[in-house]
Amino acid sequence: MAEQPFVECRGVSKAFGNVSALHEVDVDLYRGQVLAIVGDNGAGKSTLMKILSGVHQPDRGTIKIAGEPIRIADPHQARELGIATVFQNLALVDQRDVAANLFLGREPVRAGIFVNRKAMREGARRVFADLRVHMPSLAAEVGQLSGGQRQSIAIGRATAQQGRIIIMDEPTAALGVQESQKVLDLVMRLKAAGTGVVIVSHNLRHVFSVADRIMVLRRGRRVGERLHAETTPDDIVKLIVGAGRE
Ligand SMILES: Nc1ncnc2c1ncn2[C@@H]1O[C@H](COP(=O)(O)OP(=O)(O)OP(=O)(O)O)[C@@H](O)[C@H]1O
Ligand SMILES: [Mg+2]
Repeated sequence: MAEQPFVECRGVSKAFGNVSALHEVDVDLYRGQVLAIVGDNGAGKSTLMKILSGVHQPDRGTIKIAGEPIRIADPHQARELGIATVFQNLALVDQRDVAANLFLGREPVRAGIFVNRKAMREGARRVFADLRVHMPSLAAEVGQLSGGQRQSIAIGRATAQQGRIIIMDEPTAALGVQESQKVLDLVMRLKAAGTGVVIVSHNLRHVFSVADRIMVLRRGRRVGERLHAETTPDDIVKLIVGAGRE
């Protein structure tokens, strides 16, 4: 578990106008490990995810990837660096089919210009087989699929981008019991395959079922980080609401 972190953030701060969304936050992400980030509404969780995925730039602080100081200029660069993100809104195109959504923006081409639909279907089949996700049809329009299927496509896209770290912002928030369980199973499979997963969630049962470490943000500050084995949901709730000792 404890080699060099793949991503190291130190002293990351971000303000929006006079709102301090993040204040000197440190966080380490490891491959093959699941880090959960929890905290009340407005604690800064999504802001931190957006900094890691190149959507926002920090005002202060440093980020290293594989030991190298780096500036993550935009989401495209984040993906090139091995950080793929499943955003809360999923960013799927409802009118296009499953396979097209899986390769959105990085479609395989043939003869230099035409989208290679056969390669796309084959790639999609492989991604879903690896994740053991059953997709009724790769030709189905994504707008017609269930919340869980849509979530699986967004996660599949992140894995197809070969993210060494995959960030998921509230992946189970809109899902029922069984579909949530499927997403949590996917998280465990990604971890087993050596991918680092960062999961933001308000559901502590979900958090405790997958996380190796749990980091708590409160009003933009990291108020604690616990190993799963050394904490309890009560302990985490105290940190979230500010009754802990840190
Ligand atoms: N683009 C933005 N412009 C202005 N303020 C923002 C922006 N993004 C976030 N904020 C503010 O920064 C703070 C942290 O927001 P953030 O979205 O990171 O919280 P969160 O922990 O993800 O909350 P939630 O659990 O509700 O998703 C909030 O006060 C929010 O209003
Ligand atoms: Mg959020």
